[in-house]
Amino acid sequence: MTSSGTNRIEEPSLLRFIRLDLDVPFHRDLFDLIMERNLSRAGIRYADGGEGKQFLRANLKRLDLSEEALPALDLPALLLNDPKIPTLPEVLYKINTILSDPNSSAYEIASAVSLDHALSARLLKIVNSPFYGFSHQIDTVFKAVSIIGTTQLGALVNGVELVRALSKGSTRIHVRSFWKHAIAVGIISRFLATLRRMGDPERYFMAGLLHDIGRLITSTVAPMHFTVAAARAERQQETLRRTEKEIMGMDHGEAGALLLGHWKLPFSLEQMVLFHHAPGRSSLPRDASVVHLSDIIAHAMDVGSSGELFVPSVDGAALGEIDLPREAMALVIGESEIQINEVSSFFFPD
Ligand SMILES: [Fe+2]
Ligand SMILES: [Fe+2]
Repeated sequence: MTSSGTNRIEEPSLLRFIRLDLDVPFHRDLFDLIMERNLSRAGIRYADGGEGKQFLRANLKRLDLSEEALPALDLPALLLNDPKIPTLPEVLYKINTILSDPNSSAYEIASAVSLDHALSARLLKIVNSPFYGFSHQIDTVFKAVSIIGTTQLGALVNGVELVRALSKGSTRIHVRSFWKHAIAVGIISRFLATLRRMGDPERYFMAGLLHDIGRLITSTVAPMHFTVAAARAERQQETLRRTEKEIMGMDHGEAGALLLGHWKLPFSLEQMVLFHHAPGRSSLPRDASVVHLSDIIAHAMDVGSSGELFVPSVDGAALGEIDLPREAMALVIGESEIQINEVSSFFFPD
């Protein structure tokens, strides 16, 4: 944090920016844009990261676990064997097998999806929403496949089903707030990839949805360790990612990628999840940079919460991969803001 930055971050609700060096142009532009957005409050449809963060802080106070009392932990073994880890929904095994076969047809994937009525209904609701902006009603999965393509539909189905399958279990993370953050990162990633003409927008949506999945899962299988890591992060004003690694030997990117690999999900997805905090280390740095930048923007916007209290710093490598000047950043924030609540309501109708 710079001295100029300290003066500008006095309000408790802006504490999330405290780890950012505001002399870095990307950070400064982002901070300024969020301040402008906050001033025109009419444009803000949500800024509810506080809900998830309050839940986390209340838990830390209530549980107050000692670091010394922690038992040894073999997180990789737990992630692969703990009965609390959900298995990949059957329908996804089927669909992903079809998708990975180069000879498969759009008809085959549409047939597999159509057999699951609840899934088909959720899917058609999303495809018919303003999020896609089609001018006419798409009333069957077959039509949806022919319009948005098999790869896109496959990614969308995976995203929708995994959110549903993984939404139970954690008592240490505010699950709804967690998914709102994930949906926000998915939408921003999708928009950013489209803006930079990277193709396959749903692949980025899915990567955004799943980028922090390792955190939801570790907080389920190793709740004490997760709580101690979160307490240390809060106490030291450190990122939770760093303290996860210190306490559990793995950060949530590594944990998430382990799980995705175990479920045989695509390599590019695994890379985006594994390196969303260090895209320069990925073998697909441009892909990982999309999720990295989107995550930072979602944190700055304070949409939902994955348990991270502070806006993470940008990795310079990401800015080399994806050009995101202030005007583009403003566009990304403005456009995604409109879509986030809408898409959240498909996943969590109430
Ligand atoms: Fe993360
Ligand atoms: Fe995140």
